[in-house]
Amino acid sequence: MAYKTIVAELVASLLEGVDAGTIEAMTEVPPNPEMGDLSLPCFKLSKTLRRSPQQIADELARSLPPHPAFEKAVAAAGYLNVFFNKKSFAESVLNDIREKGDRYGASAVGAGKTIVIDFSSPNIAKPFHVGHLRSTVIGNALYRIHRFLGYECVGINHLGDWGTQFGKLITAYKLWGDARQVEEGEIEELTRLYVKFHDEAETKPELEDEARAWFVRLERGDEEALELWRWFKTISYKEFNRIYDLLGVTFDSDAGESFYNDKMGAVVDELKEKGLLEEDQGAFLVRLDEYNMPPALILKKDGATLYHTRDIAAALYRKKTYDFDQAIYVTDYAQNLHFQQWFKVIGLMGYEWADRLHHVAFGRVNLEGVKFSSRKGNVVLLEELLRQSIDKTRDIIESKNPSLDNKEEVAKQVGVGAVIYNDLSNNRIKDISFSWKDVLNFEGESGPYIQYTYARARSVLRKAGGEAEAGGAGPDGSLLANPEAQQVLKELAAFPDKVVQAKEKLEPSIVSRHLIDIAQSFNRFYHECPILVDDAALRAARLELVRSVCTVLRTGLGLIGIQAPERI
Ligand code: ARG
Repeated sequence: MAYKTIVAELVASLLEGVDAGTIEAMTEVPPNPEMGDLSLPCFKLSKTLRRSPQQIADELARSLPPHPAFEKAVAAAGYLNVFFNKKSFAESVLNDIREKGDRYGASAVGAGKTIVIDFSSPNIAKPFHVGHLRSTVIGNALYRIHRFLGYECVGINHLGDWGTQFGKLITAYKLWGDARQVEEGEIEELTRLYVKFHDEAETKPELEDEARAWFVRLERGDEEALELWRWFKTISYKEFNRIYDLLGVTFDSDAGESFYNDKMGAVVDELKEKGLLEEDQGAFLVRLDEYNMPPALILKKDGATLYHTRDIAAALYRKKTYDFDQAIYVTDYAQNLHFQQWFKVIGLMGYEWADRLHHVAFGRVNLEGVKFSSRKGNVVLLEELLRQSIDKTRDIIESKNPSLDNKEEVAKQVGVGAVIYNDLSNNRIKDISFSWKDVLNFEGESGPYIQYTYARARSVLRKAGGEAEAGGAGPDGSLLANPEAQQVLKELAAFPDKVVQAKEKLEPSIVSRHLIDIAQSFNRFYHECPILVDDAALRAARLELVRSVCTVLRTGLGLIGIQAPERI
């Protein structure tokens, strides 16, 4: 059992009307280990117990029964500070990790529950930009974290593959396009055509009519229009798939906006029946004035459906198909209003599960610090960003460890991991900047730093040979009582909680930041405490700690979608 839980249960047994869970949630880790390993801020109990914090702390310190898990409990400034028994703490953490292995931190809290995760969702024939990259990375991490906690996960790539832009693209292609150029130039060429359409339409408004006509044909299932549309999709997919391959991301469903084409009529009818639809100059909308929001547009004048309509149809379909417990949507915060609006519409339709829809918003990425060889559009930009990262990592490896075996593979794992980590390095809602100096800093708070720490720990285990795979009676925890080892143990012990917090706040950065804490504490330990010493018992204890660090770092990196190479 976690030490926190043991202490909370002991404390709760001494108090009337307060349960162990409440106590556990109140406990904190003191800023300085000299103040103890765990503390209970008693002012939080003052009101319920009608005593002063110091009185409560004093009483608890006096009456806490002895227990092998801790050495002593002291009252100080309204806090109850508990000091763990270092030996038993070390043994309990290490045994727990050894027993659970790669499942350390996993649980079954999500068993029987399904979460639908709508993420990445780029638009066909438009650039896959850094916002989509961030959505991909955050969504993928949330997917892995939920799966680790026992949830059934459904990852959906809600591709933007329908809408008036296809009328424009078809028009542009018909006028200025060339099949071979499109095959070769991929999205870049499609983007060029799309941009040209907008440039030309400024002086030739009749182009807009033509585009509308093409979209109408597409909506009516005209074979020529459909064929071009499918082809644009295939072309776009090639590019997207290259990026997903690099990132190691997969989806359970690629049902994009077009998937809901035959499900729109029913949504419109239902909105009408429920008296929510209002006509406004030929268009149809749902008024949201009462909720201080502009109306949600459902049908345009020409009968075309909109982004809102498609999201509503998709939510109804997903509820019916997956019977989700939660459904989340990962996009940048510019879409806040969009989601608030249609979540409200679902509520007004009378679906009690409206509060199970969540928008997981994130901030912008500023790429100004990156120099690109070509500026032909964002598409190239993103793939180039990943490629540049791989190239730069290869250069670093080349200078640090030229004899490394599978340099190319490692450069890819570290280069891509660096970009992923940067996206997850801070609270998602914060805007982030991008500087190669930080992203690839092997000594800073970066992906490569964690991966490098892992590889370093693995190399110690390799040097130790078979001994590292030990097992047996388990190490003597009294040999890990020094502050450096204890700090590592504390970070490892905190890991399962961090995973749960990341899930609760839908915030993968809680895991990624914690991995930095583990890595930093391990590196301090590594510097202070030689591992392959002559004393067999000491060596075994330290090796076991190294092994546990490896397990947790590998698991944690896996949760945020980053690989853990054995050697760098
Ligand atoms: N395709 C949209 C965009 O690029 C993102 C879609 C997000 N998902 C959703 N169900 N609306 O902005």
